[in-house]
Amino acid sequence: MKYSNVTDGIFRLSAHIHDLLFEGMWPLPHGMSMNSYIVQGKEIAIIDGVCGWDGVPETLFRQFEERGLSVQDIRYVVLNHMEPDHTGWLVPLKQITRGFELVATPKALRLAKSFFGLDESFCTLHPVKSGDRIDLGKGKVLRFEEIPNVHWPETMATYEESSRTLFPCDAFGSFGAIREEAPFDDQLSESELAFFEEEAVRYFANIVAAFSGPVKKALEKIDSLDIRVLAPGHGIVWRKNPGRIVELYRRLAEWSTDPTEPEITLLWAGTEPSMGPLVKAAIDGAREEGVQIHVHKVPETHISYILSSVLRSSGVIMGIPYSSDPLPSPLAHALDDLGRKRMTGRKFFWFLQGKGLEPEGEQRSEALVEEIDRILEKYQMRWEALESAHIPRHTEEFVYQQTRALAMELLAGGAIKGHVQELVGAP
Ligand code: FEO
Repeated sequence: MKYSNVTDGIFRLSAHIHDLLFEGMWPLPHGMSMNSYIVQGKEIAIIDGVCGWDGVPETLFRQFEERGLSVQDIRYVVLNHMEPDHTGWLVPLKQITRGFELVATPKALRLAKSFFGLDESFCTLHPVKSGDRIDLGKGKVLRFEEIPNVHWPETMATYEESSRTLFPCDAFGSFGAIREEAPFDDQLSESELAFFEEEAVRYFANIVAAFSGPVKKALEKIDSLDIRVLAPGHGIVWRKNPGRIVELYRRLAEWSTDPTEPEITLLWAGTEPSMGPLVKAAIDGAREEGVQIHVHKVPETHISYILSSVLRSSGVIMGIPYSSDPLPSPLAHALDDLGRKRMTGRKFFWFLQGKGLEPEGEQRSEALVEEIDRILEKYQMRWEALESAHIPRHTEEFVYQQTRALAMELLAGGAIKGHVQELVGAP
């Protein structure tokens, strides 16, 4: 990786990670970028950093030298966020140099001591709060704004006043590694921008969605800033149209709790021969109404992608096979994860296949409803149930018509409960 010029006196250093699960959980089929920024006035500040493994810190140090600087020149190390993907490099840094000022919120400074043993014996601790400023000389001034719980409690954003550059760390970030020669939005085609937006949706769904409330508060603070350049800790740097990623995050924070898009996510388990025709019926029903449907089989599909689909969906369908457990554990786990991420306010229905295969059909339906309600209530998910059904094998018509009914309800934004009864009668 090479450093790149962001704007006058501001440089981006970057490292990529591939072939691992981010945070030990989230797949990175397209890799991920970690961005660090140098702001060069009379004094030099480095804002955020990189992880501490696989030679990544050394990549950062090499780019420093390519820029004609030395890590010994660093006066301020600004930590917007303490998660190790931005701070792991501090361990090798403290082996190379000392005497810098560690700039962060008081909570972050406590974590820096706990995580990395960074205390007064290595550096000067420089706690900051919202509105505090550091003048680097030559017109470069850093201003700090606390944005707690996006998505850790100690987080803040840094704003460079002369260039109107915002460094928000995780906020406005995305998965997906950047092409070394094209780290800026003004260098990318529309399809490349769409790729990073899609990876931003998945990133938000996986990492930030449970903190949509704090994200909204952060957006209120950020709205008061005149932002010409938006330089996040992950993903591309936005300097042609920073408002584009800000508005996407604003929509995502809304969709987490109050979705508006007429899209449906179908989660299903079981075997293809048994469940395939029912899944196809749901797809046909959504297409008949012109509504996008995201189809995920569990447990084969990683929860990362399920969260991303449900974030953008106002409707959810659960396709449940005949099994010894009324709600098979892969579906129960998926629903539980959706609750943990506070995906509230959806409309949904389920179909349970296998009516007639056992004598205790009603008990099976009741046990299923009880289990689903238990999870919905546990996380206060406010999911509104449309008519659901325990259906005989090969009863595609119910699934087709109820998917159409759900799609129409999402499109209309109104209730049409009982509509499926008129269409196909009681299953
Ligand atoms: Fe990119 Fe929360 O760390």
